[in-house]
Amino acid sequence: MSVARILPPAALGIFGGGQLGRMTGMAARAMGYDVHVFDPDPECAAKAIATSVTTAPYDDEVAAARFAERCAVLTLEIEQVSVTTLNAAARFAPVRPAPDAVHVVQDRGRQKTWLRLQGFPVGPFAVCDDEAAFVEAVARLAPCIAKSTHGGYDGRGQVRLADADPAAAAAAAWRAIGGRRAIVEQFLDLACEVSVMTARAADGHVRQFPPSWNHHDHGILTWSMAPAPVPVEVAREAARLAEGITVGLGIVGVLAVECFVTKRGDVLVNELAPRPHNTFHQTERGHQTSQFEQLVRAVCNLPLGSGDIVAPSAIHNLLGDLWVQPGRRPDFTEAWAMPGVRVHLYGKPGARAGRKMGHLSAVGDTPEMARDLVRAAYRSVARSVGLAD
Ligand SMILES: Nc1ncnc2c1ncn2[C@@H]1O[C@H](COP(=O)(O)OP(=O)(O)O)[C@@H](O)[C@H]1O
Ligand SMILES: [Mg+2]
Repeated sequence: MSVARILPPAALGIFGGGQLGRMTGMAARAMGYDVHVFDPDPECAAKAIATSVTTAPYDDEVAAARFAERCAVLTLEIEQVSVTTLNAAARFAPVRPAPDAVHVVQDRGRQKTWLRLQGFPVGPFAVCDDEAAFVEAVARLAPCIAKSTHGGYDGRGQVRLADADPAAAAAAAWRAIGGRRAIVEQFLDLACEVSVMTARAADGHVRQFPPSWNHHDHGILTWSMAPAPVPVEVAREAARLAEGITVGLGIVGVLAVECFVTKRGDVLVNELAPRPHNTFHQTERGHQTSQFEQLVRAVCNLPLGSGDIVAPSAIHNLLGDLWVQPGRRPDFTEAWAMPGVRVHLYGKPGARAGRKMGHLSAVGDTPEMARDLVRAAYRSVARSVGLAD
């Protein structure tokens, strides 16, 4: 298939100006591209690296069309941009990944149903449109985790229910996650969580990053290391599923596939993200190509970079909790002084508990050594504001 290359200094437009948009924009700039950003927040993290920021809600089709007129190609760092907005933009510049693919992913219920229909392995779940169906599904699947189908991230919009919880707890959970369409998933007994990122260029060629191993606390990523120290069959199975899903959805860009590995060794698909992903930030340190550069290459239809590992690497998130301790400011002196540790800050003006403000990264002789180094660096920052590890 012959598809035109989009060469620098053409303009890349990014829907979403959070840290993912910012880091994608920085990679694009390093490659010689111009960068425009669309975000509802005029003070978004990507503002500092964008030639222009269009400040408009994600359902503003007129603003999106005007934004697209300025760009040679468009991508996104958030899947919650409305499909009508993406379609309005697509009249002026290619949107990669395509609105159809984003549509499948942006509702958790639609996404899991698509995966099951396509034959990809997922845990037991039910999609519920009203309270009665929800209460019934909780009774059937508990212990379970209920998630709003729309808009949740970092464990927000989720409630866990034990099998001993009464029906009243299910009704309360239905209200707590918004009293609207929800997915109920059986709570799985996990050995570990891994993710795989696949890049697919506009001409259809594909490259992957090997799986990352991810540790979450309270539903939010704490640290990630690569390559995941899992048996080779597990890594191969996760990579196989990720490639199949990427091709099945016709993704142009990158797709992160979060997988659960059960204690029995089964690999199940948890969720999809058609954009850069927190569990591949370490690609900036340990891989031949970063996920951000790979996304730019894919949507501009350049040859994709190698996803191979140069060195094992790890990241640790820096959440807003570090910034909101009364009378304290996080001190990075010790972290900066640790050989090989880098402190990445996203320049977000408002810190809130649970908000991703930055991350620490390191490389090591093994993934565990890189992980131990970022954890030690993290502990020094946490101590500086009086928090335990
Ligand atoms: N069905 C499940 N069984 C076990 N753990 C789960 C399940 N669903 C979610 N989790 C845990 O919560 C985390 C966040 O859930 P996820 O569905 O990935 O939502 P988010 O969009 O917030 O990342 C997962 O990475 C995992 O640690
Ligand atoms: Mg997730």
